[in-house]
Amino acid sequence: AIEQTFSILKPDVTRRNLTGAVNAKIEAAGLRIVAQKRIHMTRPQAESFYGVHKERPFFGELVEMMISEPVVVQVLRGESAIAKYREVMGATNPEKADAGTIRKEFALSMGENSVHGSDAPETAATEIAQFFTESEIVG
Ligand code: CMP
Repeated sequence: AIEQTFSILKPDVTRRNLTGAVNAKIEAAGLRIVAQKRIHMTRPQAESFYGVHKERPFFGELVEMMISEPVVVQVLRGESAIAKYREVMGATNPEKADAGTIRKEFALSMGENSVHGSDAPETAATEIAQFFTESEIVG
């Protein structure tokens, strides 16, 4: 089915001027960028977005990283977009990511792993709604 997923190009990508390079990989995979904006995430936004990880030891570091520089938030649309984007991203640990994936090519570490993608339809809907209104999503 045609799905939408939520994507973030993280601070390590904006800092190194790699947003176009990452978008090229997204588009080459057949995913369409149907909404996109560059924002500087606030601390409350980052803490709420990563709320499920609040108890993890890396939570503080994760929030600091996400608010350190601008990010690009996106809605990607396509056939099986959620699973497809996770394939294109590669494993969370870039050392374990398959060749050709975004993280294999660009990620610096587990934390600075270049991109975020939703893990399920419910989280995709929630995450999209945190950053976009319906009228900002243009197919
Ligand atoms: P993301 O897919 O955005 O979801 C949770 C994020 O936490 C993950 O990508 C990484 O950026 C970060 N993360 C996961 N594991 C670790 C870790 N062991 N150390 C630091 N950051 C991590």
